[in-house]
Amino acid sequence: MDVQQAILQRRSTRGFEKTPLTQQEIDTLVQAALAAPSAMNKQPWHFAFVKDAGLLKEFNALAREHMLKNGPAPLRPRFEDPNYELLMGAPLFVILSTDPTGDGPFTGVDCGIAVENLALSAKGMGLGSVIVGMPMEIVEADCCKDLKTRMGVPAGHRYKVGILIGHNNVSKEAHPQESGRVSIV
Ligand SMILES: Cc1cc2nc3c(=O)[nH]c(=O)nc-3n(C[C@H](O)[C@H](O)[C@H](O)COP(=O)(O)O)c2cc1C
Repeated sequence: MDVQQAILQRRSTRGFEKTPLTQQEIDTLVQAALAAPSAMNKQPWHFAFVKDAGLLKEFNALAREHMLKNGPAPLRPRFEDPNYELLMGAPLFVILSTDPTGDGPFTGVDCGIAVENLALSAKGMGLGSVIVGMPMEIVEADCCKDLKTRMGVPAGHRYKVGILIGHNNVSKEAHPQESGRVSIV
């Protein structure tokens, strides 16, 4: 797929088939992640590619429990629905984390660029994706300590951003664009 097409056709697709990704798809995503540019080439990130269905199930269950107990009131009803999963059925959850002691002014930007590399690479392979901030609350909760380690996040690292990737079973319109946010002089 042409790069411009991938950029313009990417959407946050909030629903996925459970079908696992192939090893080739995973390898392509890993390459895209590691190819991202970063300020002073610091590559401050770690990418935990979580594709183990058991771990994803455990995380969804923990998220439900945590959000029903501690989540903000407006969000709780969706977790009462037994069909709702925080990870939206995705067969792959990539967690971008950094060691906060090494975070610099551009660490967040670096991770944002890397996660978009993943979103565009997914799009290029005909896969859907959603960048997700919300799992941070669960990944960083005390109750997730052990699971965070088992999901491959290095000790001492904190969640920066994540992305869900898979075969989407929903589609979405492009978000409205505001030309007033651009000036060309
Ligand atoms: C840093 C970041 C965090 C996001 N977190 C979430 C999230 O937790 N849950 C969610 O459903 N979408 C999340 N999104 C997706 C945005 O809601 C989405 O990008 C936006 O509505 C525009 O839609 P589009 O991606 O289809 O263009 C996030 C996007 C970004 C860039």
